[in-house]
Amino acid sequence: MWFEKPSLVCVLCVLCVLQGVCCRAAPQSLGNGAGTGRIRDLDGESGRRLHGRFLHITDVHPDPFYKTYSSTEEDAACHRKRGPAGVYGAETSGCDTPLSLVNETFKWIHENLADSIDFVIWTGDSARHDNDEKIPRTQEQVIRQNEFLVQKFAQVFGTEENKGQGDFRIPIVPTFGNNDIMPHNIFLEGPNKWTLKYLDIWRSFVPEEQRHQFQQGGWFYVEVIPKQLAVISLNTLYFFDSNSGVDGCANKHEPGYEHMEWLRIQLQILRERGMKAILMGHVPPARVNSKESWDETCWQKFTLWQRQYRDIIVGSLFGHMNIDHFMIHDFKDIKKSTKKGSMSAADVESTDFKGSMYEDGEITVASASGYLLDLRNAWAKLPVPEKNSKPTSIQDYMDTEVEEESTWQSLASTVFGSKKAKKGGKDKDGKKKKKYTDKIGGKYAERYSVALVSPSVVPNYFPTLRVVEYNITGLEDLIIPFQSSSPPPRFPNAQLQTPVSGREFDDDTEWENRVQEMIEAKKKKNEKDARKKPKKWKFKIPSPPPKGAPPGPAYLPQLFTLKSYTQYFANLTHINNDFIEPTIFIEEKEEDVEDKRWKEGKHRQHQGKKPKPKPHPKKFKFEVEYNTTDDKLFKLKDLTVRSFVNLARKIGQDAKSKTVEAAEDDIENGFGDNLDDDHEQTEEDDSGDDIEAEKKGKKDKKHKKHKHGTKSAWFTFVRRAFVGTMDPRDIDEQFCQGVDEEVEEQGMEL
Ligand SMILES: *[C@@H]1O[C@H](CO)[C@@H](O)[C@H](O)[C@H]1NC(C)=O
Ligand SMILES: *[C@@H]1O[C@H](CO)[C@@H](O)[C@H](O)[C@H]1NC(C)=O
Ligand SMILES: *[C@@H]1O[C@H](CO)[C@@H](O)[C@H](O)[C@H]1NC(C)=O
Ligand SMILES: *[C@@H]1O[C@H](CO)[C@@H](O)[C@H](O)[C@H]1NC(C)=O
Repeated sequence: MWFEKPSLVCVLCVLCVLQGVCCRAAPQSLGNGAGTGRIRDLDGESGRRLHGRFLHITDVHPDPFYKTYSSTEEDAACHRKRGPAGVYGAETSGCDTPLSLVNETFKWIHENLADSIDFVIWTGDSARHDNDEKIPRTQEQVIRQNEFLVQKFAQVFGTEENKGQGDFRIPIVPTFGNNDIMPHNIFLEGPNKWTLKYLDIWRSFVPEEQRHQFQQGGWFYVEVIPKQLAVISLNTLYFFDSNSGVDGCANKHEPGYEHMEWLRIQLQILRERGMKAILMGHVPPARVNSKESWDETCWQKFTLWQRQYRDIIVGSLFGHMNIDHFMIHDFKDIKKSTKKGSMSAADVESTDFKGSMYEDGEITVASASGYLLDLRNAWAKLPVPEKNSKPTSIQDYMDTEVEEESTWQSLASTVFGSKKAKKGGKDKDGKKKKKYTDKIGGKYAERYSVALVSPSVVPNYFPTLRVVEYNITGLEDLIIPFQSSSPPPRFPNAQLQTPVSGREFDDDTEWENRVQEMIEAKKKKNEKDARKKPKKWKFKIPSPPPKGAPPGPAYLPQLFTLKSYTQYFANLTHINNDFIEPTIFIEEKEEDVEDKRWKEGKHRQHQGKKPKPKPHPKKFKFEVEYNTTDDKLFKLKDLTVRSFVNLARKIGQDAKSKTVEAAEDDIENGFGDNLDDDHEQTEEDDSGDDIEAEKKGKKDKKHKKHKHGTKSAWFTFVRRAFVGTMDPRDIDEQFCQGVDEEVEEQGMEL
């Protein structure tokens, strides 16, 4: 299917030879059109095979100003003074990523992953934070740091002949982070100078035929498996609540509206072509307890889109938040008006979800605790399976049978919100309880969607990488031609863009003033518009899955279903080798530490002095934190929505019964280190955990200990959220002692 006509090969070969280029390989025809049909010397290799794995890397935040053994205090930011900042980074602090860590990370990828993954999902924030008043960020820096990372990818994934210049052996799919632009968070409508600039920086990654769309708004997609699987790169900055340059997704004139339209059309086309899609972006659609990171109008549409295209969406992957976790979105939270294709900005603002996740527009490190507790509380309300009771009467029995048979219909009613079906369910002798599977949208939990958030490379906790495995059954022998995405000329489509002067990024103050003016002007206009009749904006409702279509890959295991992921981390405490003796925490009260916007990190008591005359780090490596395939704590048998709903429910149920002294027992017993030797833990599978919920409270003390101790789903979830950096005692104190109450939310910029 990827072979070109022989005659064409010949002609091109002759041309090649004439040009003095050796050419043994077939010309590259590229399903995604990024190819130019040019001949490449591929050393006899004509393509690549799939491995069923991809890499998710996020929030690298390279910082060329980082100094080893500088101070992690806020006013030093690892740029000055003496202190504990290690050679590969200051783990658990607010400092950014030293280039040594960036280099070692890519070296490790090169040595351990480069030849066993199919593509890379790179979810942004590839420049340092604006975290040092003495070294303010400049536009030039933001650009150079992004270019530096592209160069790093080229060193690892570039083809032999063209290292660093454009040809990549596998697709790399980038996206905008809120720190990849200036001023941070503010992304105005396109085309603008950032979409133009990144079109250049990412010229090897954005397929030719997507370049126009990319200029419009920084969104695009890549067929990572030509004609079969696409990765859609969303520009989540248009949805981001903190982007004061735009205003949600309801108004037809907003880029967020346009983005959603584009997304709907792409998904529709992909469906018609029989393809599947992975969605990716920087800022995740977090939404709990009156706080959210996206504008509610965007969340509404995105969630509706996810529902309607659940037959083709494989999953959604995000970064930005640094904590390792996932989200579950309930299609029942889609408003009626949204389902009818109508939305006004005011309409949605009047919901409960006014508060932003972020103080000052940014999530905070301290608020991570509050956020996790909010998630848990939300998950505590997930439907719980009924007891595995036997039907007590023939009528019950028959009802069960009938319901069993009509699962698909009731599912349709939950999912499509069909009035008739809903009514039918209620009518059934008035008070009959719905079956668990009905409550969750059928056997495949099609009432929900899931978003996965990978933790970061920047060592806010420990540096991390994530490798996801997905199902490629039947494609093992497929050979995908190398992507011959020889970079298009640096500034093509001249008619589409104003020339970049080259000096456009020189004057930061002027630019910031201009952005401010543009925002003001827009605000004024919006206020004027609002004084007129409040507008309702209509939009086209995406069509639902075709009748009779089987559940999509996020729901029913099949080709492209995400099967598992492996979470890697680099233990910088060990590798930096400066403070290896277990820290005896002369614990400042947690509030003293967390109340600040800045984190000085776990070695904060060593400010003011060099830990050693000279660093002597251990060999750098990433190690497996956990692999969901054989993980006995999360027990995710795959990454389908149903599996995550089960896990979330377990985590939520842990909240309902707190056994404080049990957790303490465990800690005394050695922090639950021998997790694999845990014979006492109840084996749970799909049906097992159904029973478990019910048995709760009847368990003997010994079992309780495990349920609420260091092996509970909740404890594990928290420990992993912070990439294993948090002391189990602290987890217990902060998360397991009935602290449902608010945790102070202070700001530190992400
Ligand atoms: C990191 O790698 C780049 C080349 O990609 C090199 O120029 C730089 O010196 C390296 N920096 C460190 C700190 O290793
Ligand atoms: C992978 O996909 C195949 C084909 O659809 C399916 O039969 C199989 O169960 C899937 N395997 C897993 C582990 O999901
Ligand atoms: C990291 O290394 C330190 C020092 O060797 C060790 O005490 C700690 O337990 C390690 N942390 C993890 C999560 O492995
Ligand atoms: C995760 O574990 C499974 C089962 O042991 C293994 O097949 C897989 O290769 C592991 N994944 C990674 C990325 O190491």
